[in-house]
Amino acid sequence: MGGEKRAVRNLVLIGFMGAGKSTVGRVCASKLGFAFRDSDMALEARLGCAVAEYFAREGEAAFREQERAIIAELAAGANQVISTGGGAILDSQNAERLRANGFVVLLTASTQAILRRVGDARTRPLLAGTADPKARVEELLATRLPRYRETADAIVDTSERSPLQAAEGVVAAFRAARG
Ligand code: S3P
Repeated sequence: MGGEKRAVRNLVLIGFMGAGKSTVGRVCASKLGFAFRDSDMALEARLGCAVAEYFAREGEAAFREQERAIIAELAAGANQVISTGGGAILDSQNAERLRANGFVVLLTASTQAILRRVGDARTRPLLAGTADPKARVEELLATRLPRYRETADAIVDTSERSPLQAAEGVVAAFRAARG
């Protein structure tokens, strides 16, 4: 993804559920003195219900539409760490908006670490109701990882790192990009 006009005003975290986007994002925000924004939390505040509930009631397409509106608002700001829902940047408009104004770090984690962290799959609509969460995670990762990678400016694996260690890696990459 080269050639587009970029500004490094925000730090954007992308990646799969359970990769640590929200936990690591909070630590990054405090290290940088930035505001922390989480697209799912912003959506829940706006919709007045949990993401899982909205997904179940209105369906994925309606959720993605709401998500697009929130991402457009968040991407327009500055001095924020923006943690995105795991599907957000699969939408090319979201990816473009976030990249136009921010430095994008992909957090990765092993399937094992993801399954351990996601724990209660009922709050994760894409994993709820599956008899084999491991197979489902692997299947989703296979299609998503290439997209995540092509959107990212840097990649930090969190499988064997504490949130603090991961945040240090992310912040170092961000500072290097800002110059
Ligand atoms: C989703 C991930 C979730 C949430 C929604 C859809 C996805 O966010 O946005 O359930 O498509 O991977 P987290 O990545 O924060 O779990």
